[in-house]
Amino acid sequence: MSRFTGKVAIVTGGGGGIGSAVVRRLVSEGAKVAVADVFLNSAEAVCEPLGDATIPVQFDAAEPNSIEAMVEKTVEHFGRLDILHNNAAMTDPAKHPLDTDAVNIPVEIWDEIIDINLRGYLLGCKYAIPHMVKGGGGSIVNTASNSGTAGDLARIAYGASKGAIITMTKYIATQHGRQNIRCNSVAPGVVLTEALDATVPGLKEVIKRHILTPEFGDPDDIAALVAFLASDESRYITGENISISGGGLVHQPHYADLLDMMQQHLS
Ligand SMILES: NC(=O)c1ccc[n+]([C@@H]2O[C@H](COP(=O)([O-])OP(=O)(O)OC[C@H]3O[C@@H](n4cnc5c(N)ncnc54)[C@H](O)[C@@H]3O)[C@@H](O)[C@H]2O)c1
Repeated sequence: MSRFTGKVAIVTGGGGGIGSAVVRRLVSEGAKVAVADVFLNSAEAVCEPLGDATIPVQFDAAEPNSIEAMVEKTVEHFGRLDILHNNAAMTDPAKHPLDTDAVNIPVEIWDEIIDINLRGYLLGCKYAIPHMVKGGGGSIVNTASNSGTAGDLARIAYGASKGAIITMTKYIATQHGRQNIRCNSVAPGVVLTEALDATVPGLKEVIKRHILTPEFGDPDDIAALVAFLASDESRYITGENISISGGGLVHQPHYADLLDMMQQHLS
């Protein structure tokens, strides 16, 4: 039997790079999945080849009522809820560049990012957990980021939202564990989705110097980890944050420079 036979999941940001890979992975292992996104057409495009195993749901992570409606629509349609993958994040290309540093970030950009990325995840949990408890338990997997565990030159609001997701995950695991709710986060390093590759050319070469694996990870690598955490195979893991980044954060900061130096020395 497949790992998710009889299970129902919601994947937020399901129309995007990582979310759509998670949807396909869960469905391939027997789950029914609500593909939830602010852009209905992206959700529909993901659902189309997957047929009755999925439904597209339009929602806006900035709007509390629409998060509640997303959960209710899923339960109404599929009859239960076992898995929530909170994965949507503010990705508006017109606003992203305004997420800079403490001095320069406009207050409204800070608020919008925190509302979508952090409050949106909290509210997903708020409305999903009672349905999961009713069904005997469930697994929540939040997409954080390595940006939530270390500083960077830009994106202070994004990083703060992701760091808070890692902490919130531990609170949810602690407060609802005895109700058979597990909650974990995954923290990708740079994953070359089509969108990212197109918007930040050159990023690949910069990041490649700092990862330990020969190849970059792709959305299917993240999906494999999310599926493991969503499944009963990880039943003894809760409250954890798992970095998935080719070892990008496990080495000394001078790793890439030292490697260059050693190679120059040998040539
Ligand atoms: N790609 C990476 O390198 C990377 C690295 C670390 C973490 N992440 C995280 O992974 C998750 C998925 O990112 P991705 O790379 O697949 O990006 P993506 O842009 O491909 O997908 C994000 C999805 O979220 C949706 N979305 C945006 N605002 C929304 C809102 N207000 N309400 C509902 N949906 C909304 C978008 O429409 C999109 O489909 C995000 O949480 C992101 O922060 C990505």
